[in-house]
Amino acid sequence: MSNKIKKIGILTSGGDGPGMNAAIRSVARYGLHFGLEIAGIMRGYQGLLEDDIVPMNHRSVSNIINRGGTILKTARSKDFSTDEGKKKAAEVLHRNQIDALVVVGGDGSYRGASRLYELHGVPTIGLPGTIDNDLNGTDQTIGCSTAINTALESIDKIRDTAQSMERIFVVEVMGNKSGYIAMEVALAAGAEDVIIPERPFDYEAMHDEAREGNKKGKVSWIIIVAEGAGKAQTIAENITKAVGLETRYVVLGHVQRGGTPSGQDRILSTRLGAAAVDLLLNGVYGKAVGVLQDKINVVDLKDASRRIHEDMDRRYQLLKILT
Ligand code: F6P
Repeated sequence: MSNKIKKIGILTSGGDGPGMNAAIRSVARYGLHFGLEIAGIMRGYQGLLEDDIVPMNHRSVSNIINRGGTILKTARSKDFSTDEGKKKAAEVLHRNQIDALVVVGGDGSYRGASRLYELHGVPTIGLPGTIDNDLNGTDQTIGCSTAINTALESIDKIRDTAQSMERIFVVEVMGNKSGYIAMEVALAAGAEDVIIPERPFDYEAMHDEAREGNKKGKVSWIIIVAEGAGKAQTIAENITKAVGLETRYVVLGHVQRGGTPSGQDRILSTRLGAAAVDLLLNGVYGKAVGVLQDKINVVDLKDASRRIHEDMDRRYQLLKILT
């Protein structure tokens, strides 16, 4: 074990996700266990630039494993995205004698952590914190499982009213570039269709299907759309126009980002937090940690962003077969 790292900073960055607190707890308590000092950096990279840093002890992370959001708060920092911002961030870390940085965040946060390491030699480790599940090197990202469960809870309720009132519902879920949540939710809800950014969608075919189904007595549909693939309101209005069936829409939005983290998210975060500290203690920097096939998996931060799920077509086929 290298003794170069004595003090670790931790921050959460970008969109929050349930389970981030469990990651903070794990990094803090596991690090303290090995005699490290832990510094909590508030409001992501923006708080780092503003020197908004608090010392953390065992008690700082009491009773947070079950809480959504992030006690460190989070932000998307424009100032940090510049070269000047990264230089300043490295200086603030140096001034606070923070030897290494754990960043819990998504795509953009990973790119920032990667550049901090490349440009200024700051030992960084990334933990996949985003509900979108769109990062490489891990089967799941922190928050995704909870977001899926949260969306499902609402969609199950929507199905009750859709069936009772014989309506079509278009439900918009989160995911700007990633249709992962939409696809998983559609499969788990038994939805009739799903529209995602990763694959072209044939609206005419959907309208035909609804018309045909209706002739045979099918009276309610649930159609899931990822926010980056289309607007639920427009899709619903077009269905009403083209098919003549009463269609309503629901935008689930940020409710999917909050709430009590699922067991899966808490466990993922807990394992990843400890793994991040292990890497730093072993002198391994500039990496992203994930879990692949139930084993801790480490990839270069610069290769970890932008995962495209390759089996979306297959999942779509399955959805349609089971509808
Ligand atoms: O990246 C997570 C995410 O929730 C995306 O699914 C969504 O497109 C985006 O954040 C929303 O960002 P904001 O909270 O800034 O509106």
